[in-house]
Amino acid sequence: MRTWLITGANRGLGWHIANAAIAAGDNVIVTGRNLEKITEAFSGYDAKKVVTLALDIAEEDQIRNVVQSAVAIFGKIDILVNNAGYGQLGPFENNSPADIDNQFSTNVFGMFNMCRAVLPIMRKETHGHIFNIASIAGLVGMPGASVYCASKFAVVGFSESLAQEVADFDIKVTVVSPGSFRTDFLDASSAHFGSADIPEYAEFSRKIRDSSERNNHAQQGDPAKLGSVIEQLALDPQAPTHFVVGSDAVQIASDRLNSRKLELEAWRELATSTDTPNQG
Ligand SMILES: NC(=O)c1ccc[n+]([C@@H]2O[C@H](COP(=O)([O-])OP(=O)(O)OC[C@H]3O[C@@H](n4cnc5c(N)ncnc54)[C@H](OP(=O)(O)O)[C@@H]3O)[C@@H](O)[C@H]2O)c1
Repeated sequence: MRTWLITGANRGLGWHIANAAIAAGDNVIVTGRNLEKITEAFSGYDAKKVVTLALDIAEEDQIRNVVQSAVAIFGKIDILVNNAGYGQLGPFENNSPADIDNQFSTNVFGMFNMCRAVLPIMRKETHGHIFNIASIAGLVGMPGASVYCASKFAVVGFSESLAQEVADFDIKVTVVSPGSFRTDFLDASSAHFGSADIPEYAEFSRKIRDSSERNNHAQQGDPAKLGSVIEQLALDPQAPTHFVVGSDAVQIASDRLNSRKLELEAWRELATSTDTPNQG
């Protein structure tokens, strides 16, 4: 039986991934930064198999404590899902240094610290699977999401590298890049907007907010189906390093690969004119 540790599981994708794992009969440690919310989100579940713990992933000491508790309870962690995260939106210049620090403390450094705490356990077992939830915004830059994109590009680059560093320990890393899924991601309870008042961006900012409001809870991706897909991939030796998920994301990623290739070829001559001439 597999043991999962999932961050940000009290709602959204994390909740659905946890439910798919529970439906598969696995043991799951579900965490959320508010103990009351995470307990309520999983009330009525078998407490021997579904353990709820408080964890704000921006707090490193909490991470260490939760990982220790997980091992004390189930003896191992087979699957880590680094899901907790949010969107810091609006034009770059509207976001304060504190806004950006907070975004990276959660989406990037929190995930690093989770991996740092769990990897020794997986290395000892020479076994494990880490899912890092990035975004299509980690593969393609988007206006009005520069800070969020920067954090998710970091997740993608980190995960692709980590996958190669830990492959010899039989630990898999899959970076998941979802398109738009119907969660609270765009809701005022989750999304943050930079609040600096720069008149030149007023019109653009309004468009970003209007678009978020229009799409909130109207996204085409079904989070329950994403949960089921992650459950199917977990510990599959063939699981990919990059998993772009949702038809919108697959189309956007495919278009971007093609346009990147065209741009690369268009500039090949100038770009390859910089080598030192061969001395031999
Ligand atoms: N939905 C999409 O369209 C989409 C697309 C691409 C990527 N993603 C990514 O998917 C992940 C889950 O988002 P979602 O769509 O499920 O959004 P959501 O419904 O807003 O859920 C976000 C979850 O992350 C938690 N969280 C935020 N900061 C945290 C922290 N410091 N410590 C612990 N938990 C924290 C939230 O906890 P609280 O309830 O306490 O706020 C909540 O449980 C995020 O990483 C997001 O970037 C989502």
